[in-house]
Amino acid sequence: MDLTLKIWRQKDSNSKGQMVDYKVTEISEHMSFLEMMDVLNEQLVNSGDEPVAFDHDCREGICGMCSMYINGEAHGPDRGITTCQLHMRMFKDGDTITIEPFRASAFPVIKDLVVDRESFERIQHAGGFISVNTSGNTQDANALPISKIAADEAMDAAACIGCGACVASCKNSSAMLFVGAKVSQYALLPQGQIEAKERVLNMVAQMDKEGFGNCTNTGACEVECPKGISLENIARMNREYLKASI
Ligand code: SF4
Ligand code: FES
Repeated sequence: MDLTLKIWRQKDSNSKGQMVDYKVTEISEHMSFLEMMDVLNEQLVNSGDEPVAFDHDCREGICGMCSMYINGEAHGPDRGITTCQLHMRMFKDGDTITIEPFRASAFPVIKDLVVDRESFERIQHAGGFISVNTSGNTQDANALPISKIAADEAMDAAACIGCGACVASCKNSSAMLFVGAKVSQYALLPQGQIEAKERVLNMVAQMDKEGFGNCTNTGACEVECPKGISLENIARMNREYLKASI
C-alpha cells in the first residue's frame, strides 16, 4: 500500500504545532499501525529529518501508552483495540491517514504525538489504592467470599489501562469513565470499603482540579474505549459520591 500521512508535528509544549504531510510506500497490510510508523521514522532518520515522537511500550494492548487520534478516532477505526493492535488491513492503498495526539487541556502535548498524562497518575494517587496488611500474616485471598457477580464486575472495571481514549473522545474532555472504572474496581469488593468514602471524594476532587470536563452522557467514551469499560461505572461512581457526600 502507498499512503499519505498527515501528522501533527510539534517541537515541544511551548511551540505551535502543525500538520505535515508524508508519503510511505510498500506498506504491508499485515503490519501493525506502529510498525508503519516505524517505517516512516526510519525513512525520516535516513534522510536526516527528525523522527515523529510517539508513545509506545508493550505493543500488545496492555500499557495504554500508544495514544494516537487516527482519522478522528482515538486508537483509530477499529473497535476494542489500542493503536498498537490496529492493523494496516483496516486501510486501503492510496488512503490519506490523519494522525494527531490525544487532545485535552489536561493532556498537554510534550512533543508531536506524545502527551503528558500525569494528570491520570495524580488522580490515582488521590485514592486509587487499598490498605492491606502485608506483615506476613496476610489473609489468603480465597478466604474472603465474594459473589461471582461482584468479582466479575470488579474485574471488568480493573481492565482499564489508563490510556485516555475516553478523554480524547469526549466533547467535554471528561475523565469520568476512567475515574468511574478506578472507583468501581474497589467499591465492588470488600477490600475497597475501608477507604471508600475518602477515595471517591478525593479522586473526583483531583479530577476536577486537573481540568477535566463533566459527563453529559454522550457515550463516545464507551464506544472508543479499547477495554470495553461500561458507562455503568460512571453511574456507580456517582452513587458512591452521593453516599460519601451525605
Ligand atoms: S476507561 Fe477505557 S478509554 Fe478510558 S482510560 Fe480506561 S481503558 Fe482507556
Ligand atoms: S503500546 Fe502498550 S497498549 Fe499500545
